[in-house]
Amino acid sequence: PVSSKVTLKVNGQQHSVAVDTRTTLLDLLREQLHLTGTKKGCDQGQCGACTVIADGRRINSCLTLAVMHENSEITTIEGLGTPEKMHPMQAAFVKHDGYQCGYCTPGQICSAVSVLDEIKKGIPSHVTADLTKRPPLTELEIRERMSGNICRCGAYSNIVDAIVEVSG
Ligand code: FES
Repeated sequence: PVSSKVTLKVNGQQHSVAVDTRTTLLDLLREQLHLTGTKKGCDQGQCGACTVIADGRRINSCLTLAVMHENSEITTIEGLGTPEKMHPMQAAFVKHDGYQCGYCTPGQICSAVSVLDEIKKGIPSHVTADLTKRPPLTELEIRERMSGNICRCGAYSNIVDAIVEVSG
């Protein structure tokens, strides 16, 4: 194994860590930085449980190597809020029961926060080529944008309700 060093900011805190160059960002977060809020579901880019926000964009942290994130700013679920001081999206998920087992929830919430940011920035989705023609946010739009985050309990309608509330 080849070892390298990566310096990055996670939830506002600077880290300089020695990593095996094959280590994914997900494993760095969970195993080395002990930020276990980010979940490992499939470990191959299919479920979205590992979603974090990297330099303002949501990514599947299982699909990217830690060494590719030199000087990146990463936000995980731990960085969005705390039980005492929740992010509005976290509070909305609680209010609307946007989960059952909770395993996909950190990824769902990181994704949802990014979705609203993408819309604000005018980044189109597959179903809305031109955002200026189709505000406000529709359920279809949310479902399309959240389609990379799988919930095996099927809490989708409550998840959508939570996102609608925050988007309004
Ligand atoms: Fe990364 Fe499933 S664990 S997409």
